[in-house]
Amino acid sequence: MNSLTTHDVPPTQAPNRLLDALPITDPDLVARLRRRLDQVEQRLLDVTHGDGTHPAAEATGHLISAGGKRLRPLLALLGAEFGDPSASGVVDAAVITELVHVASLHHDDVMDSAPTRHGVPSVNAQWGNTLAVLTGDLLLARIARLAAELGEGAVRLYADTADRLVRGQLRELSSPPGPEGQPEHHFSVIADKSGSLISASIRLGALQAGAPPEAERALAAFGEHLGSAFQISDDLLDITSERTQSGKQPGTDLAMGVPTLPVILALADTSTAATSAAATELRDLLEYADLSEEPARARALALLRTSPALDQTRAVLADHLRRAHACLTPLPPVPARQALTTLCDALVGRTS
Ligand code: IPE
Ligand code: IPE
Ligand code: MG
Ligand code: MG
Repeated sequence: MNSLTTHDVPPTQAPNRLLDALPITDPDLVARLRRRLDQVEQRLLDVTHGDGTHPAAEATGHLISAGGKRLRPLLALLGAEFGDPSASGVVDAAVITELVHVASLHHDDVMDSAPTRHGVPSVNAQWGNTLAVLTGDLLLARIARLAAELGEGAVRLYADTADRLVRGQLRELSSPPGPEGQPEHHFSVIADKSGSLISASIRLGALQAGAPPEAERALAAFGEHLGSAFQISDDLLDITSERTQSGKQPGTDLAMGVPTLPVILALADTSTAATSAAATELRDLLEYADLSEEPARARALALLRTSPALDQTRAVLADHLRRAHACLTPLPPVPARQALTTLCDALVGRTS
């Protein structure tokens, strides 16, 4: 089975890279998806760069040109397979999903002071925070215009998704007092900041293709679980990956102080196992040590790798995966259903 993670896909790749990594068995579906993804790519470049004369055109199109997996457009196109995939508006639905993602990255990289994105300097690093925020806003305006052309359902879904995504980002800034409530808080944050758009992407494709409402609902539920699983697998890889295996430097989130699920669960553990010397040392490191320093981070990583929190995190991930698969069961057995199963396993199946 091919496996892809957030960090595996290098920048400036062709938009079909994610599709190429999936063992989709139906050649007609692959050909159709490939054709549509090429159309999506051209449209993304047109919408973000315009004719290039706008003073901020380069900054607005920077992240689209730099790369990304195009996961959300692929999901939108797969969602459309449950209706009429050639319906007008399906390509623009896919375009909208990637634009929402990219706009959220403009703003997220300002929030997180991220120096790079898609393997190149982030918009904030290259042009400053003000331009990064304003060009993110510009993308939001262009999304609203595209959605208005698709109809009221698309506008409403976009508005609801953006609302949830921003509330997730806002809630990440605060946390409940004490470690006990942290896991639930984290689950709601990742569902809103990441799951909302992944779910809406597949749903918007289905909506534009006129898929039956029950299929749209099942696909939306699938996307919610896939979205949370995607974020949790990313959290796990920060602890479990070897750099050569995943392309991600293990412990990056630890060093940056980003709260990930294994860390949150290690701190929240009140079981008897949590009183062991290793668990106590781990909690002390996580709470008090400067994990941007190598010796402390290496020790925390080693302890986390044998901590019960790691298996607890894997169990949460497995539960989302099981539920994601279950959501697909009532759907008609079109080739896209097999493709979604494959996509789910390839994206989040490898976590150790
Ligand atoms: C990154 O998403 C943000 C998360 C929700 C973890 P992607 O991994 O899909 O972003 P791209 O492929 O780099 O654009
Ligand atoms: C991802 O945010 C979700 C959004 C951008 C809305 P993160 O901050 O967790 O993800 P990365 O690590 O920057 O991709
Ligand atoms: Mg970030
Ligand atoms: Mg963030």
